[in-house]
Amino acid sequence: MIRLEHVKKVYPDVTPLKDVSTEIHTGSVISVIGPSGTGKSTLLRCINLLERPDGGKIFFEGEEITRRGCTVPKVRQKMGMVFQQFNLFGHITVIENLMLAPVKLKGLSRQEAYDNGMKLLRQVGLAEKVLNYPHELSGGQKQRIAIARALAMNPEVILLDEPTSALDPTMVGEVQAVIRDLAKTGKTMMIVTHEMNFARSVSNRVFYMDEGGIYEDGSPEQIFGNPLRERTRRFINRLKVLELTITGRDYDFLGTVSMIEAYCQKNMIARKLCNTLQLAFEELIQQIILPELEEPKIYAAAEYSEEREELDLVVRWNGRHMEPADSGNELSYSLLKGSVSGIEYRPAELEEFTNEVKIVIRPR
Ligand SMILES: Nc1ncnc2c1ncn2[C@@H]1O[C@H](COP(=O)(O)OP(=O)(O)OP(=O)(O)O)[C@@H](O)[C@H]1O
Ligand SMILES: [Mg+2]
Repeated sequence: MIRLEHVKKVYPDVTPLKDVSTEIHTGSVISVIGPSGTGKSTLLRCINLLERPDGGKIFFEGEEITRRGCTVPKVRQKMGMVFQQFNLFGHITVIENLMLAPVKLKGLSRQEAYDNGMKLLRQVGLAEKVLNYPHELSGGQKQRIAIARALAMNPEVILLDEPTSALDPTMVGEVQAVIRDLAKTGKTMMIVTHEMNFARSVSNRVFYMDEGGIYEDGSPEQIFGNPLRERTRRFINRLKVLELTITGRDYDFLGTVSMIEAYCQKNMIARKLCNTLQLAFEELIQQIILPELEEPKIYAAAEYSEEREELDLVVRWNGRHMEPADSGNELSYSLLKGSVSGIEYRPAELEEFTNEVKIVIRPR
C-alpha cells in the first residue's frame, strides 16, 4: 500500500532519515519505536507529506506521491493523522469537528456526515459528548474524538504520533483501548509510541529506528523477545551503555578512568561492580591488549542492566588473533579471571576488529 524508496530527510544540523526503503502492506499495524530524535515523527510526517523528503520516492497505492504536481490534499484525505496534542477545532462542537472535513472535502451531505459521525462517536464510546465543545472534555476524551475525526474521512491508513504521551496516566488506557479495537478491524496503522507493552501487544510489525533509519524491522516477538542487532537489544533491555574507542598507544588513560567512574555514578552502579569494571578495563586493555598492538584500535562497550544487576563488557580489537589467556601476561589474566563472573574470547571477523572478549560482571 505504501512504499518508500531511498527516502532521505535532511535538516541543517541533523539527517534523521538517511536512506529509508520499506513497504507497508494493507492491514499492517506497525509500531515505530526508538530513542528520542531518531526520526520517528519525521518518518510519519514524510509519509503524509507534512514534510517533503529531500531525496527518494514515496508511493501510495501505486502512485508516486512525492512527484511534482501531485495534489497533496487528495493524498492526505486518505491518510488520517493523530497528533500528541489532539488539534481539535476549539470553537465548534464535537460532532461539527467530525462533520467538517467529510462535508467540505468529500462532499457528503450534512445528514450523511452526521450519521457517520454519530456512528464513530459510539465506536469510541463518546456518543453522549456529541454537543460538547473540546474544552469540556478530558485529555483522553479529546484524543478519542481526534481518532474519530481521523476515521470520519474513512482513510486508508491512520498515522498516530505518540497518541497517549500528552495524557494523564489515568487516561492512557482508554485511548489505547480505542486504538486496539481499531487495529482489530484491520485498519492499516502506524503508531509511534514510547510505551513498549502497548507496542508489543497492538502491532503485528515493529520498526526500531536508530542511526538514520529503520535499524531493525521485525515481528513484535522478534524485536521484543530476541532482537538481532546491538542497538535494538540495548534499547529493548534498557541497557545503560558506555562506549569507548581507543586509537593510539598514548590515549588519555586517566580521562578514560574518570569516564568509567562518571558512568557508574550516573547510572547508580554498585561500587563493587564499578571497581571490577575498572579492574577489567585496566588489566585487559591496558596490560594485556595494548602492549601487543603496534597501531591499536580498540572498541569497548560496557552495558549495565539494572534489572539483572549485571555489567557486561565487550572489548574488540585489531591485530593478530590473541586469546588473552595465552598473552604471556599471566598475572594480569589471573587477576582478571579471579574478579569477574565470566570471560569468553572469540576470534572476530568484523571489518575493523579481529578479536572479541565478552566479560560478565555480577555482584558476588
Ligand atoms: N523542523 C525541523 N527543523 C530542524 N530539525 C528538525 C525539525 N524537525 C525535527 N528535527 C530534528 O530531526 C531529528 C529527528 O526528529 P524527530 O522529531 O523525527 O524525532 P523523534 O524520533 O520523533 O523523537 P521523539 O521521540 O523525541 O519524538 C531531531 O534531531 C530533531 O531535532
Ligand atoms: Mg516524535
